[in-house]
Amino acid sequence: MGETLVHLAAHPLAFPFLRLVGRCGPVVRVPGIGVVVNDAAVAHRVLRDTDAFRKSGRGSSGALWTPVLGPSVLLNMDGPAHAELRRKLAGLFTPTAVRAICADVLAPLLARAEERLAAGAAVDLVELARTCAGAVICAIVGLDADERECRRMFARGEEIAATVRLSTKQLSARQVKTARRVLGGITGPAARAYEAGDPGTVVGRMRELGLSREEALGAAAAFFLTGTETVASFVPRLVALLCDHDHQHGDLDRAVEEALWVTTPSPVMLRAVAAPTRIGGVRVRPGQRVVIATYNCTRVPGRGFAPERAQPDLGRLWFGAGPHFCIGYPLATAQVRAVATAVLRHAPLRVVRRRYATGVLIPGYRTLEVARA
Ligand code: HEM
Repeated sequence: MGETLVHLAAHPLAFPFLRLVGRCGPVVRVPGIGVVVNDAAVAHRVLRDTDAFRKSGRGSSGALWTPVLGPSVLLNMDGPAHAELRRKLAGLFTPTAVRAICADVLAPLLARAEERLAAGAAVDLVELARTCAGAVICAIVGLDADERECRRMFARGEEIAATVRLSTKQLSARQVKTARRVLGGITGPAARAYEAGDPGTVVGRMRELGLSREEALGAAAAFFLTGTETVASFVPRLVALLCDHDHQHGDLDRAVEEALWVTTPSPVMLRAVAAPTRIGGVRVRPGQRVVIATYNCTRVPGRGFAPERAQPDLGRLWFGAGPHFCIGYPLATAQVRAVATAVLRHAPLRVVRRRYATGVLIPGYRTLEVARA
């Protein structure tokens, strides 16, 4: 029930509507919205067919950011230029690198949260997860930040996300101006980190990996746009699921995978049709929009949160598929694991207070306070 309320609070109309569309077939044409894909196998085919379905065309999610960040920031690129940038970035988020980032920046924040839990006090996991996500992005751009600056960094992301709804097809001139101003808080420090070329910073490492200054700043902005709210919203949802289903002592890696499936933190992906083709029998023309309803694609009737059971094979669709598969996936899971491990050391936990976030793009809690049971 908690998860349904998370979705309803974020999208009181769009969520029930998309679920209804999900019952109408694997591929459904919805006037004013686009061609909606509700089936995982079809979604995988669309995401892999980058000749016909693009992230850079009109109506795609990537195109939203082009007026703000320029045409070459990974999430709004396609084809050989995108592949080349992904190739250069391949060595960035290695398991060792992400562990180091998390160990460095999260340790003091988690130690403080653990002290509170150990003392029997409540900790708001929303606040903690946001501060941690802010700290990671500060580390990425090379900002040596205190807890307040980490929170401010996260708030910048929220300010930008607040300008976008599921139905947004284009940012207004005012939204572009706001987003540029806010993103200056990322690209400014990132530019300094690039100039300094310190391989101890992620941006410095991007320089070592052969990225130009523009590419590195664009990638840092892309990480910020895509990698803060997604991960911060997921951590409290994971712990809430573990508390609600009495699963606090099992294998954490399996629980994380299961919770990613259940929550599917990014509920939709968008593509623009670039060539006439068919999706599951439905004819599409260039310029049309494809809405991959990832949340619908990953539903498995009758199966609830059950980490001990074999997971349905959906190819980790919650992180995308094909050439745009989430590049931050190793960082996201390392971050989630670090926060959850620290919090669950004090299990059994109980949820003391829970409020759902309203008016947000990425569904999540507004407050999730936990304390030792
Ligand atoms: C639980 C957390 C996360 C989830 C569920 C998630 C989900 C996704 C999904 C579904 C996509 C594909 C979008 C599409 O094809 O349209 C994606 C792409 C991306 N993600 Fe994540 N993500 C998460 C965390 C992160 C983090 C921490 C970072 C930061 C490094 C990040 C950076 C990116 C980037 C840059 C892309 C675009 C890649 C490209 O277009 O080549 N993500 N993510």
